[in-house]
Amino acid sequence: MRIGLFGGSFDPVHKGHISIVKGALRSGLVDIVVVIPTVINSFKQGKILLPAPYRFYMAKDVFESEKVFVSDIEYSIDGVSYTAKTLELLTKRDHIVPFLEKKGVKSRKAKEEHSYFWICGSDILPSFMTWYKPDVILSYVTLLAARRPGTDLTVPAELEGHVLTFDIDGIEVSSSDIRRRGDLTDVPGKAKEFIKLHNLYELPNPLDKVSEEAYVKFCECANSMYFILGRKRLLHTLNVGILSAKLAAIFGVDTDKALIAGAVHDCAKELPIEVQRELAYKVSGDVFSEEKLLHSPAGAYYARENFGIDDREILDAVTYHTTGKGDMSDLEKIVFLADKIEPSRTYTDLTDIRAEALKDLDKAAAMCVKAVKAKFESKNMPIHPLTMAFMEQLGL
Ligand SMILES: [Fe+2]
Ligand SMILES: [Fe+2]
Repeated sequence: MRIGLFGGSFDPVHKGHISIVKGALRSGLVDIVVVIPTVINSFKQGKILLPAPYRFYMAKDVFESEKVFVSDIEYSIDGVSYTAKTLELLTKRDHIVPFLEKKGVKSRKAKEEHSYFWICGSDILPSFMTWYKPDVILSYVTLLAARRPGTDLTVPAELEGHVLTFDIDGIEVSSSDIRRRGDLTDVPGKAKEFIKLHNLYELPNPLDKVSEEAYVKFCECANSMYFILGRKRLLHTLNVGILSAKLAAIFGVDTDKALIAGAVHDCAKELPIEVQRELAYKVSGDVFSEEKLLHSPAGAYYARENFGIDDREILDAVTYHTTGKGDMSDLEKIVFLADKIEPSRTYTDLTDIRAEALKDLDKAAAMCVKAVKAKFESKNMPIHPLTMAFMEQLGL
């Protein structure tokens, strides 16, 4: 098959990306397109981009169809996702054949010898030779450059014989403009839904209040958790990180610690229950014996061992995010609260608690604990002694 590869940050996906994919398929030069959201972009490092899982799942919602697949290959690259490295991994037969089969391509077709095309805007051609290992890239792919209506496309001499072109509609959009203005007019419907559900690209950006270092750590944890959490839980735990940072800025708490504690609070939740029990025991003996509570202390242990997080306050906020405890710090209260009310939570009407959370931390936490208590009572379940102690602290 002739496989078009379309890499990008997709932060967010916009209508210009769609017109490129459509144009490539319409040109007849490729049979299918594989969209590859970058994990660590060589040009855009630091706070510029959202953590990769948001961009990956948004791209999946928008693009995946009969002839367009989204690849997570870049999560398997250590460090910066240079195109040459991505191509080396993606085109390996023991990767591409099962990938295509999983996406519904018939086995016979998936096992053919494939030719690969790197789909790009024509604007990258003049600087292409400055990319990391351009010769390696050209040994894997032909460049497939999109031409906007009414524009000239000159192929630089050094790329002669390596470029094919195709036409696209004249949509002129940039993700950075969309982020800066918060205007979603040029964002396709599926991406809009995703952005609204997770309250992304909020202005002013709550992440402006965290340090560059904490942000990089946040992204690293997000990339690692891609392998151990399903989509819904991963996006939930990242949302809790961002909301915790936002609340921390309001209540004068360390925003870096809040971001990280919130982001990893559920990291252990999909580990086998026996593993959770074992890790939980190492942190706090048998204080937490119920299955549903084990992931909290287990998460603290996992985060320390696997993400190198050794800050006591962060680890305690993870340990007590489900039960609370008697002398909750503001950081712990924030993570406890953010867990219950992050934007993608829809289990009940949270309007009042969400509004209160921006004004009075204790009052909002009290509203949450009361709701938890009512739920337990309705199910005739005992309330954990640590939660009782938290209620006492809150004057309930
Ligand atoms: Fe949890
Ligand atoms: Fe959670």
